Amino acid sequence: MHSIVARLILLMLTHSAFVSAAEIDPSVRETGRIQFMMCAACHGKEGEGTAAAPPLAGSEWVMGPAENLIRIQLRGLRGPITVKGREYDIAAGMAPMAYQNDAQIAAVLTYVRQSFGNNASSVQPSQVAALRGEVGKPQLTVADLTPHGQAAPAAIVTPSNKYANLDEGVSFPRWAVIGIMVVFLAGVGVWLAKSK
Ligand code: HEC
Repeated sequence: MHSIVARLILLMLTHSAFVSAAEIDPSVRETGRIQFMMCAACHGKEGEGTAAAPPLAGSEWVMGPAENLIRIQLRGLRGPITVKGREYDIAAGMAPMAYQNDAQIAAVLTYVRQSFGNNASSVQPSQVAALRGEVGKPQLTVADLTPHGQAAPAAIVTPSNKYANLDEGVSFPRWAVIGIMVVFLAGVGVWLAKSK
């Protein structure tokens, strides 16, 4: 019985909420690195930006909602767009690259979000699959994108919340997960005590 409990705890500890960028499957990272060579042609080898495209390194769009990046890749993008305080409006914009499969798109976007000093969550193939309906629609403009300063609804902390001072994006889910774990572990403790 105890080993089952230990396994359950281990499972919770290794749950995806705790998996950091450093623990991304090396094969996913490698797929992303290879796919990124296409992006690098315009955005630069280190995502630093070139005359053909704005930077991805330190871009608030890259670090913002993953949905934007998936849609940009599926539909392409037309300027003007402000990246790191500078406005870009490059003639043809970015062409769609929807021919890559869901796993490749998820891998390249994960790579971009976790390279060049960027540090955002990874992108799952299922997230790409969910947006395949976007393929074939006209190039996006900034007005079609979710503003990058906007946190996902679940992460918005109301002003009355006592954790309102903490970083919105990270604190709420982490506190929730820790809370659930504390309740779970307390339950396990009570159950173990009773089963003796
Ligand atoms: C043909 C050149 C080209 C290629 C290839 C390309 N992009 Fe772009 N990308 C652009 C341009 C140009 C813009 C900005 C739109 C404009 O100025 O009209 C842009 C904008 C972006 C943006 C939003 C702005 C920013 O810099 O954060 C993201 C994110 C992005 N591209 C990701 C990618 C990814 C990921 C790939 C590879 C899968 C890729 N791009 C491949 C040209 C390109």
